[in-house]
Amino acid sequence: MANTLGIVKPDAVRRKLVGRIVERIERAGLILRGMKVMKLTREQAEKFYAVHEGKPFFKSLVEYMTSGPIVVMVIGGHGSIERWRELMGVTDPAKAKYNTIRREFGTSIEKNVVHGSDCLETARREVGFFFREDEVLPKEI
Ligand code: RTP
Ligand code: MG
Repeated sequence: MANTLGIVKPDAVRRKLVGRIVERIERAGLILRGMKVMKLTREQAEKFYAVHEGKPFFKSLVEYMTSGPIVVMVIGGHGSIERWRELMGVTDPAKAKYNTIRREFGTSIEKNVVHGSDCLETARREVGFFFREDEVLPKEI
């Protein structure tokens, strides 16, 4: 019953897609255990995406992720990591399955609307990047 980190990226917040994305999470039976609206600084974005440093898309990714407010969410429930990735679809919206969030709302491989942690270790690190322990609902609630 591990938690995972979800992000509604700046393009989606700008296009007022937050409600529709949250609705999909709730309908899938996943549980929101934490949520906040914020705007990343360049330093935060570079640190969060440090694994991609040196890749050709890194600079553009940092620009994109700091271009406006985002919504960060702690998503829990059985199989949350895999199930949130499934709801999102693969990185490139053009290749994502029908009915996934990226397929429906994504406009390019970069502007793909949402983020989700890719494994247990990443999920722990990424939730901790944005949330203190007392900002995440305990599993009993
Ligand atoms: P995410 O980390 O956001 O959940 O997405 P992901 O695992 O599907 O994709 P990842 O490979 O980790 O890349 C992180 C984000 O960088 C942007 N990107 N742009 N121009 C490109 O070729 C390219 N490739 C990736 C996307 O915004 C991607 O979500
Ligand atoms: Mg990733």
